[in-house]
Amino acid sequence: MRLPSGALTRRLTSVLTGLALLVSGGALTTGLELATAAPAMAVDNGLARTPQMGFNNWNATGCGPQFNEAMVKGIADLFVSKGLKNAGYQYVNLDDCWSLPDRDASGNLVPDPVRFPGGIRALADYVHAKGLKLGIYSSAGTATCAMTGNSGSLGHEQQDANLWASWGVDYLKYDNCNNQGIDTQPRYKAMGEALKATGRPILYSICEWGTSAPWTWAPDIGNSWRTTGDIRDTWQSMIGIAHANQALADYAKPGAWNDPDMLEVGNGGMTDTEYRTHMSLWAEMAAPLITGSDLRTATQSTLDILTNPDVIAVDQDPLGKQGSVVSDTGNLVVMSKPLADGSRAVTLTNERSTTATISTTVQAIGVAGAKSYKLKDLWSKKTSTSTGTIKVTVPSHGTVMLKVTPRTPVPTGLS
Ligand code: GLA
Repeated sequence: MRLPSGALTRRLTSVLTGLALLVSGGALTTGLELATAAPAMAVDNGLARTPQMGFNNWNATGCGPQFNEAMVKGIADLFVSKGLKNAGYQYVNLDDCWSLPDRDASGNLVPDPVRFPGGIRALADYVHAKGLKLGIYSSAGTATCAMTGNSGSLGHEQQDANLWASWGVDYLKYDNCNNQGIDTQPRYKAMGEALKATGRPILYSICEWGTSAPWTWAPDIGNSWRTTGDIRDTWQSMIGIAHANQALADYAKPGAWNDPDMLEVGNGGMTDTEYRTHMSLWAEMAAPLITGSDLRTATQSTLDILTNPDVIAVDQDPLGKQGSVVSDTGNLVVMSKPLADGSRAVTLTNERSTTATISTTVQAIGVAGAKSYKLKDLWSKKTSTSTGTIKVTVPSHGTVMLKVTPRTPVPTGLS
């Protein structure tokens, strides 16, 4: 699909601006050069054929005391009782501060006995008994990012991977703090090989914040890679990350996904309209859907946003394409994502501060050639018909998300 040059420039500028915030000058040139390279082969561990879905405590708790065994078990319970498991959420993931700062006498990582008195193996058993999976966290450095300086896995890759596998861990988020200035790719490759050598399928979520153009090398090594710095629970942060991630559509594929960071839906810093935009754009970009709010106190509205089956189906579509920007006129942004059934998922996002009308066409979204089209609004569930033009009214910071299906077969060569 062609990207209008203005939009392309804007998206690349966003990526480079994001990188500029994170790295010193030299990496920018590298990022731009590598952005034109062909995507590499996907990592061959059979996992994340569609983007991973789950929970991670970080956005809600950081290293606060409420991050503990009771919380994690409570989230697993709610995954089942509130319909998240049925909606596709599977991984219950622990972030930083699950372990003590120091290793034990044998050099093993030690779960914090105050937070996790039963240990991680028992927690994994609890989560597995519910038909869910457990994720863990470490850093490709000497210590994690927390102020407490918890041991990282640099130089301990195989020992740590073996320990996690022995506990029944199914997922690793691997951060980038305290990396001693060692090249990024070999540090992440070492852990990828260690995970593989355990013989246990462990989803590998690379988190180096987009600093070394990971989309060019990480598809060979891991199942997803963060493309930016950390998300915050604000409109500006969320939409800025979306812009950076939108430019990287060509690099996503089954088993290997761009990761614009975890969801903030329900954490209170945005309106529900903005959270629906957040969820719509993450699904349109085939992003991992890792909810980051404490579901034990979530409102019904938060749960409805997180479990909208039509929006999740777009994220999880088996074709595995990330949607791309087809037009961007003055902060009115249209994206299109090809779906396996020949239809398109379309987002029309109003990034302005007042209500606006957004228009596109079936040609622009890449599905021309039929006499008419069924339009289904994936949030309101209303359906309508179009013969070619799509025009919607969108509130400030809102997104209309449509599934556009040709009603008559599309003649070959015209789609
Ligand atoms: C980094 C990561 C975050 C989180 C924290 C934990 O900032 O990008 O997602 O894991 O570390 O300390």
